[in-house]
Amino acid sequence: MELLSLIRAKRRGAELSTTDIQQLVTGIVDHSVADSQLAALLMAICYEGLSYQETFALTRAFIDSGVTLDWSHLPGPVVDKHSTGGVGDKVSLLLMPWLAAAGLTATKMSGRSLGHTGGTIDKLESIPGFNVNLTGAQMAEVINDVGCCVVAQGADLVPADKIVYALRDATDTVDELGLIAASVISKKVAAGADYIVLDVKCGSGAFFTSLARARKFAQVALRLGRDLGKQIGCVISNMDQPLGRTIGNILEVHEVLDILNGQQLDILNGQQTSEDVVELCATLGGVLLALSGKAANASLGRQAMLDLPKTGAVGERFERWIAAQRGDVAQLNAQASTPNTTRQVSVQATRSGVVAGMNTRKIGEIARRLGAGRLTKDDRIDPWAGILCVKKVGDTVEAGEVLAYLFQGSSSEPIPKELLAEYQQTITISSYGVELPQVVLEVLPPNRGLSVIGG
Ligand code: URA
Repeated sequence: MELLSLIRAKRRGAELSTTDIQQLVTGIVDHSVADSQLAALLMAICYEGLSYQETFALTRAFIDSGVTLDWSHLPGPVVDKHSTGGVGDKVSLLLMPWLAAAGLTATKMSGRSLGHTGGTIDKLESIPGFNVNLTGAQMAEVINDVGCCVVAQGADLVPADKIVYALRDATDTVDELGLIAASVISKKVAAGADYIVLDVKCGSGAFFTSLARARKFAQVALRLGRDLGKQIGCVISNMDQPLGRTIGNILEVHEVLDILNGQQLDILNGQQTSEDVVELCATLGGVLLALSGKAANASLGRQAMLDLPKTGAVGERFERWIAAQRGDVAQLNAQASTPNTTRQVSVQATRSGVVAGMNTRKIGEIARRLGAGRLTKDDRIDPWAGILCVKKVGDTVEAGEVLAYLFQGSSSEPIPKELLAEYQQTITISSYGVELPQVVLEVLPPNRGLSVIGG
């Protein structure tokens, strides 16, 4: 295939044919397409975009580049969840055992950190002993045992996306709508679940910074789902501030433990530290309960989800799941109850007022530079590096009060002073009150009651 002509065509804004795209993906997988040329094409795509036809062709070709899993032998319905990428997004860690406790079979192939956003696999790997590399048979065993399982994308599942994903990360060509849609939907279709919910992040920390773009993505995702025979629901959620309070791998796992152990699940009383995480999990779960026919609509599904943790069923399922994937629950609990506070520095507010905004992308980038994410694809994650956001949007703050703690992880280098100043600059403090942000912005499609979310 003449890759130069494809790059030239895309640079001029032309539409690539289905055959071009199929051949491109074949060349990516057999390594006959050079990284340099693929990077140039990706950059052209970022400028010119992909049409729906191109996005569909890319999604189909991605799926066909590897195997498709079949879970028909498992007790159904089998559900899956995916996020378009956020900062402090620990939803999968909590939602998967929560779905299992709700009677669904939840499987998930997750990715590693991408750009300024974190990855579920890195978070799970920060749990001592946790094994993310399971064979199909081992996955089935874990699912039969606890009802949920999360693994790293195996080499044979959508291999083309694996190659393109890493190159997009290395060349800052991540945030093109069609590329994200093809990446997400191909993996979800190949992973074989019956019902899929997408958490479409929207805001300063997301790849879609406006509601219009997030909606457009959700519509493309729903259309791809329909054209590929999958039932998909989308929740557009707020990423104008980090989700929950922590950013960074083991820090986020500890926050989930806090949620499970504390009273934070009682979101109706408000004033809790991680209520946005809980609300988002309940809404995503509610959509899956509605899609799979276990709730009459998403609103009732959300309520059923919220009733569950009070029984202790979610915490119990979480521990069983971690243990089933060889995670050391006792060590995890011990670490969480005695956090290492010697390697942290605080960032103070320079003025008094109300936190009116957080530049979430910048905050994600600071976490990445502390070691919570990768700057190159070969970098190692530092599980203990990250940020604890003490103040979030709507919180009042006095000058000199702590806005956040930065954790340097295992690095012996002190945290550079400019990083503290950069964090201060990410926070907008206003003298006026602000409207408290809702974590759930919209639920699609607006049928079967899916858009009618209460609370
Ligand atoms: N998540 C994915 O799996 N792919 C993307 O491109 C972005 C987020």
